[in-house]
Amino acid sequence: MTFENCVSELENDGVCVLPSETVYGLAGSAISEKAVKKIFHLKGRPPNNPLIVHVLNHESAKDFCHTNRLSELLAASYWPGPLTLILPKKNSIPTSVSAGLGSIAIRSPAHPLFREVLKNVGFPLAAPSANPSNKLSPTQANDVIESFGDSCPVVLDGGACSYGIESTVLDLTTKPPVILREGPVSKLEIEEKIGQKINSFKESLATISKEANPLKSPGQMSKHYAPNTPVRLFSNLDKLFRFKFDKDSDIILLSHSNIRVPKLLENFSILYFSKNGEWKDVAKNLYKVLREADRLGKKQINLCLFRNLNDEFSAINDRLTRACTISI
Ligand code: TXA
Ligand code: MG
Repeated sequence: MTFENCVSELENDGVCVLPSETVYGLAGSAISEKAVKKIFHLKGRPPNNPLIVHVLNHESAKDFCHTNRLSELLAASYWPGPLTLILPKKNSIPTSVSAGLGSIAIRSPAHPLFREVLKNVGFPLAAPSANPSNKLSPTQANDVIESFGDSCPVVLDGGACSYGIESTVLDLTTKPPVILREGPVSKLEIEEKIGQKINSFKESLATISKEANPLKSPGQMSKHYAPNTPVRLFSNLDKLFRFKFDKDSDIILLSHSNIRVPKLLENFSILYFSKNGEWKDVAKNLYKVLREADRLGKKQINLCLFRNLNDEFSAINDRLTRACTISI
């Protein structure tokens, strides 16, 4: 029943929440001004922050943007999956979706339910993460219901998202391409795939003057992905373990349960991101554990950057950095 409700909402310029392999998305027709307006309104999203357009495959992407050799190559390897490409926009997509930019963000989601909905409606779906602006992205249906309350649209429950963090956003409109948002597909992996160097967002800022580079990815600028409880972020575990915490007001979040915790902290509230510290598990649980910490209603969440064991942890550290209020 929910599936039919979602399809009918979408066909009538409405919105609904769909599961994706990254995070849940607040979906509406990307070719309906009305639906797009509803998405911005429900999220409380500033109109200068563009949306991602979701399609079934690279072939259908061609109706909405100018694809190229690199997008073809990357889509062949990573679509359907957690890689969003920025490409020059065609007029078939209203400018409200792209926040007035000449490009659009486009990806093909892998979750079978999202794909089934795309097949049924037959038009592209704009879908930002289904959370109020700047809050934690939802990785299960209940997160969405919890954060939107009475104004929650119909939610299609597809279980826990398998990646748990948002897609990698890669800008293909520049030379070299630029990673605008780190995600499950790492910079190194893309470089190996396309056989050329790409820039991180920071590198791109260093090489281009501000005037020549008007707000490339507005979502990069703002504080994002933050729980309600303030977050104190430590640069390493030693610093965290040496800090004088308060048992009543502090909660500590650690990578995995095999970490040896100093005696002094043994009776403190501690939550773990994973069993074994593998990045896939950490990513999958990242927002879930931050939400759990939030629910405990302490004064301060404390956590520490991951040592960059492999390139993928970079995306996790990126999210933690954006969630934090104080760095130590
Ligand atoms: O995994 C995901 O990407 C999820 C699922 C639902 O697909 N969606 C998602 O959407 O995270 P959202 O709206 O929360 O994040 C989209 C990001 C924002 O940072 C936005 O600024 C950027 O993509 N973006 C969208 N269009 C852009 C464009 N034309 N140029 C540069 N950045 C763009
Ligand atoms: Mg988002």
